[in-house]
Amino acid sequence: MTIDSVMSIPEFYAGQSIFLTGATGFLGKVLIEKVLRSCPDVGEIFLLIRPKKGMSIDDRLKNMLKLPLFDKLREEQCSVFSKLIPISGDSKKKSLGLSDADVQMLIDRVTIIIHGAASVRFNDSLKNAICTNIRATRDICILAQSMKKLITLLYISTAYTSPHRPVLEEKVYPPIADWRKMIDIAESLDEHTLNILTAKCLEYAPNTYMFSKNLSEHVIETYSSFLPCAIVRPSMVFPSIEEPFPGWVDNIYGTIGFYVGSGKGVLRVALNNYNVYLDIVPVDIVIKAILVTCWKVGSTTHTPGSNFVVNNTCQNLFTYEYIGIMLGIEIKEIPFENSIFPSRVVQTNNWILYYTLMILLHMLPALIVDTILKRSGRQPFLVRLQRNVFVATQAVGWFACNEWKFTDTNHLALLSSIPPNDRANFSFNYVGYDSKEYFRYCVIGAKKFLINEDMNKIDGLKVNVKRYI
Ligand SMILES: NC(=O)c1ccc[n+]([C@@H]2O[C@H](COP(=O)([O-])OP(=O)(O)OC[C@H]3O[C@@H](n4cnc5c(N)ncnc54)[C@H](OP(=O)(O)O)[C@@H]3O)[C@@H](O)[C@H]2O)c1
Repeated sequence: MTIDSVMSIPEFYAGQSIFLTGATGFLGKVLIEKVLRSCPDVGEIFLLIRPKKGMSIDDRLKNMLKLPLFDKLREEQCSVFSKLIPISGDSKKKSLGLSDADVQMLIDRVTIIIHGAASVRFNDSLKNAICTNIRATRDICILAQSMKKLITLLYISTAYTSPHRPVLEEKVYPPIADWRKMIDIAESLDEHTLNILTAKCLEYAPNTYMFSKNLSEHVIETYSSFLPCAIVRPSMVFPSIEEPFPGWVDNIYGTIGFYVGSGKGVLRVALNNYNVYLDIVPVDIVIKAILVTCWKVGSTTHTPGSNFVVNNTCQNLFTYEYIGIMLGIEIKEIPFENSIFPSRVVQTNNWILYYTLMILLHMLPALIVDTILKRSGRQPFLVRLQRNVFVATQAVGWFACNEWKFTDTNHLALLSSIPPNDRANFSFNYVGYDSKEYFRYCVIGAKKFLINEDMNKIDGLKVNVKRYI
């Protein structure tokens, strides 16, 4: 892929009109912050937001912009927030639940689509996963076909769309099912019948999330005959490494949730193979890769059928054992409040041992603690929490016991195409970073932003930790 004319990245984004889905999510928020800060001349950013928990889309946006993630921008360039335009929609609904007026506005004005909204629950119902992930991607493509000014449609996928392959290249593999048929089935069958069909689908993918993400890539592949498409595939997204500050995280799902669980003493046995390499990538690195991919595709004349796929995976691999040790050290230095047990986790890939220890270390103590709470008139919570931990552990266990290799030809080509003057702001190369320092920031970020703990209490907590050891 050769760029038509080399324009700097901020110049490219000047005046562009972006439509972003998944705006309120972990990746979406970091993307908004980065575009506004590093490309302040961007035209406007339409954000697909659904009303939630009684909050309107305007209130959701207002609350979002109060987050510490936006502190720097709020202090230095707060006028850029006026470029954010919330649009009411729900990707679970047909045509994303958009009003006719909003559809027309998007058609008239949008030049770049970044589609990141997804149901990320591994064990979501098949119906929900198909409607929210596959059908919404199709409806985004249908909408995009009417946009005369569109220069890029970027789909945020995952590195694990074909998890049965040990080596994953930067291409779309043959589909595991027909996406059109799956949408028809989800629309016509009732939830109960679909639940029976789920077992069949899970012969091809470990969970409904991966199944739906695999087929969503095929939707994009199909529409790449007409649209300038790209797919970016992050592996497991971790807290920020640098921008706007190290350690930003607000997503408890996945591996970081396990470290919070371990810091709180709730997680004492984990299902993983400690020799397996964990593929993690910091969120700000993912966002830079997404923005550079849009720049690259948007600066290139579209060849029908071409679909630029980028694996956005780890540049320095560490085993579960190493990361467990590193985070364990940091959790001792930066302990969590109200830990139920000392932070010590047994890692095993032996299912029998895992189940046995789970009963002994998780369920039995939870039953005892909940009984004491109940007898003393307080609300029991630990059995319910441990049940959730068990479900989450099972959901990610498959990934934590296997490893994959990802090729990175497009990733490297993309990196080297960044104009020299833009490298400081947009390079997503972080080889040679200080991993010890990074994991320290991961623990600080999880403590401050995920579970809102007070950093001033650390000295007192450290004394307690020493008493435990
Ligand atoms: N985080 C990772 O480790 C990771 C790794 C690989 C790929 N990805 C991909 O990256 C993308 C973003 O993930 P994330 O980590 O940012 O997830 P997230 O924090 O859970 O955010 C998901 C986003 O999708 C939106 N969404 C979900 N259902 C919706 C619906 N029915 N209608 C409208 N919006 C809906 C959510 O909106 P609400 O706020 O309204 O719920 C939220 O903005 C996803 O496509 C995911 O597959 C993530």
